[in-house]
Amino acid sequence: MQEELNNLKNQAIAAIMEAKSVAELEQIRIDYLGRNGKITTEIKKIKKLKPDEKKNVGRLINEAMSTLAKTLAEQKLSFSQSAKHWFDATIPGEKPALGHLHLVTQAATEVTAIFEKIGFTRVRYPEVEWDWYAFEALNMPQGHPARDEWETFFINLPEDKKYGKVVLTPHTSSGQIREMERVKARPPIRMINIAKCYRRQSDATHVPMFHQFEGLVVDKGINITNLKGTLDYFGKKLYGSKSVSRIRPFNFKFTEPSFEVDFRCVHCDGKGCKFCKSGWHEVGGAGMVHPNVLKAGGIDPGVYSGFAFGWGLERVYLLKPGLNINDIRTVYRTNLAYLEQL
Ligand code: DAH
Repeated sequence: MQEELNNLKNQAIAAIMEAKSVAELEQIRIDYLGRNGKITTEIKKIKKLKPDEKKNVGRLINEAMSTLAKTLAEQKLSFSQSAKHWFDATIPGEKPALGHLHLVTQAATEVTAIFEKIGFTRVRYPEVEWDWYAFEALNMPQGHPARDEWETFFINLPEDKKYGKVVLTPHTSSGQIREMERVKARPPIRMINIAKCYRRQSDATHVPMFHQFEGLVVDKGINITNLKGTLDYFGKKLYGSKSVSRIRPFNFKFTEPSFEVDFRCVHCDGKGCKFCKSGWHEVGGAGMVHPNVLKAGGIDPGVYSGFAFGWGLERVYLLKPGLNINDIRTVYRTNLAYLEQL
């Protein structure tokens, strides 16, 4: 019996060494160690043995089983390692995951391209700005109640005699005055200013840091029809050829007259749906540049006139068909699974 066992063990080891695949190894395991394997059946014979033989044979079987299990495992490992080292140059490579631009960057790029086609140039002005550019020069003097709308963050720095406090720009309109200064009293101006803006606000439709794009056109003979034509052109380019714009009277201190701008809902063609409710989407403000603002920017309102508009970039972009985003905060969370869809 003991010799038989040793022979079985040696046979099994020889078979393992000759095996050429993991499948063959598995077959050997079944043949020897499986439920009806050659060694397993030996165990069943133990109970017929005399007590002093039982002990010896038991130990031998245990030893044979663990040696075989170990040898099998080693061979299996060496197969998998050699498979790893073998390089098959004909297997197609694994593509590295490709990222894409964030939704807000996509929006800024698309809006810029639309306006560049009609002669606008994208500009950038400071995010940390003087009160003068953000309010005062825009016809909103110190203490004017209209300022409350802008829920401004102030920077803890000494005030300047002329420029006042330092703020985080609450709107891109501050770029209007910077742009007027840049042309040194000599329009034309066709600017598109896309930038971060900051306000103390946070809910489903507002975040403390967001983006606006500000258009400003100043030249001789600019009037409301130029503004309306620009709005219609923009709507058709961004939302599709069926887009229609609408202006409603409103009040801003830096424009006269002032308007709120709506685009007809692209989901229901203005019939009214759960997305727009009224058939129209409000995107932001616009108007004819107030003479006081032109003056503050060093431009003669007797010679030049202009129009301006300023809208939330996220807001305008999220109205595009296919982007059903009703909580703006999700755009700024770092949930990759979500962002990758956009
Ligand atoms: N700056 C305004 C805001 O943040 C939006 C705005 C309204 C900009 C009218 C304009 C304008 O240029 O003409 O609410």
